[in-house]
Amino acid sequence: MKKILVATDKPFAKVAADQIKAIFAKANYECVFFEKYSQQSDFVTAVEDYDALIIRSDKVDKDVISNAKKLKIVVRAGAGYDNVDLASATEHGVCVMNTPGQNSNAVAELVFGMMVYQIRNHFDGTSGTELKDKKLGIHAYGNVGKNVARIAKGFGMKVYAFDPFVSKSEIENDGVTVLDTVEKLYETCQFVSLHIPATAQTKKSINHALLSKMPENAVLINTARKEVINEDDLKVIFNERKDFHYVADVQPDCAGELFDFSKQYYFTPKKLGAQTEEANINAGIAAANQIIDFFEKNDIRFKVN
Ligand code: 3PG
Repeated sequence: MKKILVATDKPFAKVAADQIKAIFAKANYECVFFEKYSQQSDFVTAVEDYDALIIRSDKVDKDVISNAKKLKIVVRAGAGYDNVDLASATEHGVCVMNTPGQNSNAVAELVFGMMVYQIRNHFDGTSGTELKDKKLGIHAYGNVGKNVARIAKGFGMKVYAFDPFVSKSEIENDGVTVLDTVEKLYETCQFVSLHIPATAQTKKSINHALLSKMPENAVLINTARKEVINEDDLKVIFNERKDFHYVADVQPDCAGELFDFSKQYYFTPKKLGAQTEEANINAGIAAANQIIDFFEKNDIRFKVN
């Protein structure tokens, strides 16, 4: 009997966990939940006896991989897999997958929640501003970016995008204006929403040169990864521009140093973009089915390593 560990420090909603359990029970797989663990070392110990792992932002590092002697597959229930040591997984013959698109609407909706909260002055009762007719730049047009564009149109925003990996026609079909350089995106748009993954190329790439180009009353929204921001440059921008705003679902390491600018930023207390019942159900069910299809049908469609 295959043994699956659902290792989620940030637990799935109960309704999602119940559905995951039911899928594995039907396939005659054993499924154990390991949630809210306080130490990474506890995670390393917990994986020892399992054939497959479902994770979220949980860190699958070298130690996890080498201690999981029976491990054949890790499915990241979500989009970004920068929390998995792919080289180590590959070296040990472990297949790594993600579940692209399954939680993207949840993240996209949070973008708007945070934008409105920021431009309504943190709901402090003073006069704010509106999104209608404002320019929104989508930096990377993947699953989340596409949903952001759809919702932005409902708000009456003018939507722009930059993504060298997506064809111009695909973006234009959504009624979004394509800009051919990243500089143009930051120059054009008062609001910029980040959807780039954290890779060696993108880490610290959102820097002073880009942020200083943003128009008056700039709002940068980051529901991606904190690592893509150059935090030294971010601090400089806060000091230079009283009209610069930064809202993020991923607290920067320098959050404690931004105290003087408290009205210019908002950070969620814990990463919660994908923390909805619907996203948990979609991503959790996809992950469970991908594991079963991997073992039963050799299906490696969503493999990323
Ligand atoms: C993702 O990459 O899918 C999102 O960042 C969601 O992460 P989470 O599953 O930890 O909420």
